[in-house]
Amino acid sequence: MGELEDYFRHNTGRLVSKWQHYFGIYERHFASYRHRPVRIVEFGVWHGGSLQMWRSYFGPEAQIVGVDVNPECARLSEPGIEIVIGDQADPATHRRLRERFGDFDIVIDDGGHRMDQQVTTFRELYPAVKVGGLYLAEDLHTSYHPDFGGGLRRAGTFIELAKQLIDQLHAWYPPAGLRIDYVTQTAFGLHFYDSVLVIEKGRVNTPKVLYSGTPAMPLSVTDLRYLAYMDVEAGRHAEALDKYRRALAAAPDDAELRERVRALESGPR
Ligand SMILES: C[S@@+](CC[C@H](N)C(=O)[O-])C[C@H]1O[C@@H](n2cnc3c(N)ncnc32)[C@H](O)[C@@H]1O
Repeated sequence: MGELEDYFRHNTGRLVSKWQHYFGIYERHFASYRHRPVRIVEFGVWHGGSLQMWRSYFGPEAQIVGVDVNPECARLSEPGIEIVIGDQADPATHRRLRERFGDFDIVIDDGGHRMDQQVTTFRELYPAVKVGGLYLAEDLHTSYHPDFGGGLRRAGTFIELAKQLIDQLHAWYPPAGLRIDYVTQTAFGLHFYDSVLVIEKGRVNTPKVLYSGTPAMPLSVTDLRYLAYMDVEAGRHAEALDKYRRALAAAPDDAELRERVRALESGPR
């Protein structure tokens, strides 16, 4: 059992509720942010227990912010824990939050779990996650539940949005026909778990495919084709042409190779 789950099980503070399998996910992604001056916001204050848990886990340098629609939660603030009252489905709440606090190291969405709430929070606050920070949305099984506006493969659910994020991660590759967007340029990794998505935000550069070393055996047509493809991707068109020519010499009936040679001979793409 990790430290966070240990805290939870021996909790003498305010009421907190989490699914058991979330603790391993939290510890895996949150450990490197501990004992640092991080700013963390959690949607869904409830009785305030999770905010106290984060404060204990991340340490006294952390600034913990809780957001809830229930005005009663306002009195749950304490040193190191600030409470904002607002509806997470309303973009104005997020604007207010950003004006007051700026960007966040970690955003945790454990609020109302309805689709409009989860989707609006992601759209409004993912841009407010610092480079090197995390966006964590939980209880995503609600995407399958009609009570929360969910349904299997239903348009507008958070899970359907998350599937689009997988596509956007790959928008660098032109055959996909996708447009490189903010997610493509900032989502270093998407980590999917049962009911939880963790997005690692980073500075993502145009991907480059590399190779090094010397061949251990004569290069096959497949090898030449693959190396030439990497040369093209890296902008090494002369090297690519040379390899495609050698591949075509070994496989003269290969129409695709002939087309590659022709295209490169008539100039780079
Ligand atoms: C599951 S509880 C949060 C649990 C808490 N994070 C914990 O771990 O113990 C959900 C909370 O979300 C709040 N909530 C529901 N709809 C909301 C909305 N539209 N905006 C902000 N908070 C909302 C509820 O008032 C409730 O306090």
